[in-house]
Amino acid sequence: MANVIVTGGSRGIGLAIVQTLAANDHTVVAIARQETKDLAAARERSPDSIYFVPFDLSQVGKLHELARGVRERFGPIYGLINNAGLGTEGILATMPESSIEKLIELNTLAPIILTKYVVRSMMNEGAGRIVNISSIMASTGYSGLSVYGATKASMIGFTKSLAREVGALGITVNAVAPGFLETELTASMNEAQRKQIERRSALRRLAGVQDVAEVVSFLLSDKAGNITGTVLTIDAGGTA
Ligand SMILES: NC(=O)c1ccc[n+]([C@@H]2O[C@H](COP(=O)([O-])OP(=O)(O)OC[C@H]3O[C@@H](n4cnc5c(N)ncnc54)[C@H](OP(=O)(O)O)[C@@H]3O)[C@@H](O)[C@H]2O)c1
Repeated sequence: MANVIVTGGSRGIGLAIVQTLAANDHTVVAIARQETKDLAAARERSPDSIYFVPFDLSQVGKLHELARGVRERFGPIYGLINNAGLGTEGILATMPESSIEKLIELNTLAPIILTKYVVRSMMNEGAGRIVNISSIMASTGYSGLSVYGATKASMIGFTKSLAREVGALGITVNAVAPGFLETELTASMNEAQRKQIERRSALRRLAGVQDVAEVVSFLLSDKAGNITGTVLTIDAGGTA
């Protein structure tokens, strides 16, 4: 069973990824600040394949220790899913700089630094899979999401260059770009906005967290061995 780190694995998309990877024979280390009841229940059902490590990823200076601790406890790390993220909205002209900094710290800086330390372990093994959770907001505009969009676009640039850097060492790096999904991150969207997104989607519905989890699971499978440096959109055709 290969070890996979899933950041933000306590709820929403991350929890769906944790459970799907565990069902597909991976040992999954979920990282978040606090464990949720749903993650605790999933761990009870799969005590040998789901683990929780509490950690605040905005403590960027301690990410080295986090990566080392996981490697020492579980062994070589095969997969890293950079999923934890903030979705803070704000009109740029009035957005507090502290909110801008927090978004960039958690959505861009933390995944890059964590990857730096985890990819070393993958390089030693000559194998690894990295999946960065971006968003359709990386390529489409939405008023109030300029900073969020910038952080999500940064993960695509990161994905493509890192894929070239580590490909010869047997490591793949991909991104997935979900559209609007119902999770705590998007709880501020109202019913009218949700219906509008559904109406505008090619499939006239929203994608779900499980759709994202299945794509991540595929990217970690042997079948995806020749896929790297790419972005998979999961939005029920919202941007088609
Ligand atoms: N929902 C959508 O429509 C949507 C669409 C496109 C892309 N995405 C992306 O998908 C990813 C997950 O989104 P989601 O909707 O599942 O979000 P969510 O339901 O709000 O979950 C966020 C996860 O990140 C963790 N997290 C937040 N701050 C953290 C910190 N400082 N340290 C460690 N963990 C932290 C949370 O746990 P704690 O709070 O306990 O730390 C939680 O597990 C994000 O990168 C988001 O940008 C979401």
